[in-house]
Amino acid sequence: MANGGLANGGLLAVDGVVAGYGAAEQILKGCSLRIEAGEIVSIIGPNGAGKSTLLKTIAGLVSAREGAIILNGADVTGQGALGRAKHGIGFVPQERNVFGAMTVAENLEISGFQDPGKVRERSEELYARYPMLASKRRALARTLSGGQRQILAMAMGLMNAPALLLLDEPTAGLSPRAAEELFEAIVALNKAGLPILMVEQHALEALEISTRGYVLVSGRNSREGSGPALAADPEIRRLFLGG
Ligand SMILES: Nc1ncnc2c1ncn2[C@@H]1O[C@H](COP(=O)(O)OP(=O)(O)O)[C@@H](O)[C@H]1O
Ligand SMILES: [Mg+2]
Repeated sequence: MANGGLANGGLLAVDGVVAGYGAAEQILKGCSLRIEAGEIVSIIGPNGAGKSTLLKTIAGLVSAREGAIILNGADVTGQGALGRAKHGIGFVPQERNVFGAMTVAENLEISGFQDPGKVRERSEELYARYPMLASKRRALARTLSGGQRQILAMAMGLMNAPALLLLDEPTAGLSPRAAEELFEAIVALNKAGLPILMVEQHALEALEISTRGYVLVSGRNSREGSGPALAADPEIRRLFLGG
């Protein structure tokens, strides 16, 4: 098998993936990445580069037309979103990631669809981890602040006890203070043992807390390296700081 090598190593391997929407031109034109147990990996790149499309392709919401997605040694390329979730992918989308008209408790409840018998226990674990959610459990999600909403969205992604969490621009639209707190929550989650693959507009801040990073440009890999090395790279700083 062409992917025999990939199947032996790493938590997730994305190998030469081509994907897009409908009959239009492909958005991802051959993307590859890997993530190992214990890592935080960031994907950065200009608007429209295909970062969200890449996460959706890994989550099984967009199908890969070429290439392979190998999760824990299993080829999941042909599986849809439910199959990927069963294999341990948790996905927090960039937009509309909570149900505003439902309470915090209800948002958690409906997110635990893999193991309905564990909803109570997992909700309690998440309330212990995020006391803010416990104090707001009967509040409608639309009444939460931006930062609180992102914590709820992340907690929803944790309800199925994923092996890998995908976060699409978790700090988008947050104040610098709220963004910093969210990054701290992401690092804490990773330190507790959860591998994380995130897309971030706050590129340098994200790279600084990442084991490794990838730069995606026009649907293709552009650069990759350790997070801190990319964050210190003059070319990356020029691109993402505009200075
Ligand atoms: N649902 C969709 N249908 C058609 N085109 C889409 C859809 N979502 C995104 N695109 C297009 O795909 C390209 C990449 O989008 P996206 O993956 O969201 O980029 P990024 O997250 O890097 O900003 C853009 O040109 C965008 O217009
Ligand atoms: Mg995006």
